[in-house]
Amino acid sequence: MTTGAPVATKYTFDFVRRSLPEQARSVLEIGCGAGELAARLAGAGLQVLALDSDSACVAEAKARGVDAVALDWPSAIEQRFDAVLFTRSLHHIHDLDGAIAEAVAVLRPGERVIVEDFRSEGGGPCGRAWFSGLVRLLHSAGAFRPDFDLEHTLGKIETVDHEHPLHSSGAIADALARAGPVEADDSAYYFRYLEADLRSPDAVCRLLEYELEMISADAIEALGKRFVLST
Ligand SMILES: C[S@@+](CC[C@H](N)C(=O)[O-])C[C@H]1O[C@@H](n2cnc3c(N)ncnc32)[C@H](O)[C@@H]1O
Repeated sequence: MTTGAPVATKYTFDFVRRSLPEQARSVLEIGCGAGELAARLAGAGLQVLALDSDSACVAEAKARGVDAVALDWPSAIEQRFDAVLFTRSLHHIHDLDGAIAEAVAVLRPGERVIVEDFRSEGGGPCGRAWFSGLVRLLHSAGAFRPDFDLEHTLGKIETVDHEHPLHSSGAIADALARAGPVEADDSAYYFRYLEADLRSPDAVCRLLEYELEMISADAIEALGKRFVLST
């Protein structure tokens, strides 16, 4: 089982919890990966069904005790939920409008689609310069584990080169807006690239706080995006 990213998972979990409808009991998570968020939501008392198109991810989520199913979204399912979550999965799903329409279709009336994603088109110049300076400084201070790969990590902030085209955050925002009223917000994201490599969990928390301060001060452009679609 992967060791996971507890700081990043908690950051997402807190956003999901405060975005859920007050009486929410059941949640569908689409593109659950290794099931860390789903496990945490289930641990908080929610009834969670988690889906992923990758059967290895589903096996890992199941090993965490998550009720997980291998399924390529959009798919028709009969169950109904109080919320549907896409965390860093929507930018991968080719049929964006179909994925959102099918998510709305499995919601009980008046419930929500909650999305956390990032600017797959790349961050802005101030953010990139801030991140690369910070990574070099942390590296020279010995903050990373011995197998840390500096060039590989710096490459993550260049335009993402993926085996299939990824949806930009603007395309995701537009597709959600076609489905109903949406609230959008900026969020931290750069810190996720470093969580597995930093020796100290405290350093990950401090990095997240630092990134949030930089976003609030308008000193960098946020790389993370969050959306809540009401139906
Ligand atoms: C970047 S991972 C995010 C995993 C997890 N939600 C997280 O936040 O850490 C994206 C996940 O979406 C899944 N995925 C991509 N396209 C999908 C589709 N059409 N249907 C279901 N899952 C999909 C991938 O297999 C992958 O596990």
